[in-house]
Amino acid sequence: MTEDAIRGTERVIIFDTTLRDGEQSPGAALNVNEKVEIAHALEEMGVDVIEAGFPISSPGDFRAVQRISQEIRECVICGLTRANRQDIEVAAEALRGAARPRIHTGLGVSDIHIKHKLRTTRDEALQWGVEAVRYAKQFVEDVQYYAEDAGRAEPEYLYRVVEAVIDAGATVVNIPDTTGYSTPDEFGRLIRGIIEHVPNIHRATLSVHCHNDLGMATANTLAAVRAGARQVEVTVNGIGERAGNCSLEEVVMALRTRRDLFGLETRINTRRIYPVSRLVSQLTGIPVQPNKAIVGANAFAHSSGIHQDGVLKERTTYEIINPRDVGVPDSEIVLSARSGRAGLRHRLTELGYLLDESQFERVYERFLEVADKKKTVDTRDLEAIVADEVQMFFEETYHLEHVQVTCGDHSIPTATVSIRGPDGRVYCDADHGTGPVDAVYRAINRVIGEPNELIEFSIQAVTEGIDAVGRVTIRIQADEPVTENGVERRVFSGRGSDTDIVVASAKAYMFALNRLIAARREAARQN
Ligand code: KIV
Ligand code: ZN
Repeated sequence: MTEDAIRGTERVIIFDTTLRDGEQSPGAALNVNEKVEIAHALEEMGVDVIEAGFPISSPGDFRAVQRISQEIRECVICGLTRANRQDIEVAAEALRGAARPRIHTGLGVSDIHIKHKLRTTRDEALQWGVEAVRYAKQFVEDVQYYAEDAGRAEPEYLYRVVEAVIDAGATVVNIPDTTGYSTPDEFGRLIRGIIEHVPNIHRATLSVHCHNDLGMATANTLAAVRAGARQVEVTVNGIGERAGNCSLEEVVMALRTRRDLFGLETRINTRRIYPVSRLVSQLTGIPVQPNKAIVGANAFAHSSGIHQDGVLKERTTYEIINPRDVGVPDSEIVLSARSGRAGLRHRLTELGYLLDESQFERVYERFLEVADKKKTVDTRDLEAIVADEVQMFFEETYHLEHVQVTCGDHSIPTATVSIRGPDGRVYCDADHGTGPVDAVYRAINRVIGEPNELIEFSIQAVTEGIDAVGRVTIRIQADEPVTENGVERRVFSGRGSDTDIVVASAKAYMFALNRLIAARREAARQN
């Protein structure tokens, strides 16, 4: 069969695995409400398939898949399983409310996986995969099979597996480069080989899932598309295991910008790319590197004089994508305290934030505080304010009322905090530390008393200039009871922004602690 015949459809299906593989990024840990929020944003952006989680892996993942199945109607909702009956039964149960459920099952196909991980033989592994597909078919019509570590498998064996699982009923076959080992030439050849050697391949959609260990996930994915793959598995901002997965925005914009080469479409509303990238970064606490293609802060910044001159004369001299096409807001538009409620509301609406009255009032209060200190407030400041005031998808048990610090090169850093507790009372306490942030965290610990370990602290200026808002992102680690008598060491991220970086640090810590407390409460409720 020729490449063109396999191409048939002129559309590439976007399978988003931000909530499954993306969430496997160290420290990404999202709670159920946050996952549901991201799922809505993905649906609105136009992804075709949402891999919502790995239902058997934790009660939280199960509930997330269940709620996303109930709330998202436009996309196929997919749940991951290993190739065994219990995983498949649990996934089927989590997907029960979905309008278009899909079970994603499979196992390793490389000799390394078969010998060392599965400890079996090729023939037995093949049989095991076939049985998993047959079993999953008893629950759902749409079954996707992953041939894990296909990038390092022997092609002849891979062809046999693909043919067998399609015969067993797989509707989609996923060829992952699990370890990010392949090069574009090789991976394209592998996909072409499958198309040429698997006689029943036309009965399934061919999907690819590339990891970025050698920085080639996007190139490999595009090479596979050129060779005939018609589903791509991607994550927002390219987050995921180790060096991450293929990034959604890169593949979608490559297909769109080079339509002349690929001749293929996606259903993605590209103007939603930047807002969804920000949302995922805020909720996972994983910053986007400034030079990240499409969504990085510098992706459309021209700093050299020659480039600036060219762009001013004609944008296309140095820009292949119009930033507006990916929803990058115009940061030249600034507001001041004089802009008033109407001006702020108008700008927030332009930026795609639809806030209810109480959310708007909170944002307005913060906006006035920032405008008072910085005189002008631009888009990035507004994003930071909205993230702090609105994008908190759990109950806030403790609220930071005030924080005050004394420090300097000849004094002992000392902090006093006042915190409103769940009983409505305000508690004050003070402590000292090695620096102002340490002192604040110790003072907060004296009030809240949740044992944890700070494992990451980072600070970034939201805008340029000495008066910029600082954004602090932290991660803490704590034991969370997952079953009646089992605990799991889990990571909780927190973020906070303020023109005062010590206040931003205090807010970030309160955010992470509140998140931890909310997770404990939820686990207790479930138990
Ligand atoms: O990388 C991989 O192989 C995977 C599979 C589970 C699809 O994530
Ligand atoms: Zn993966």
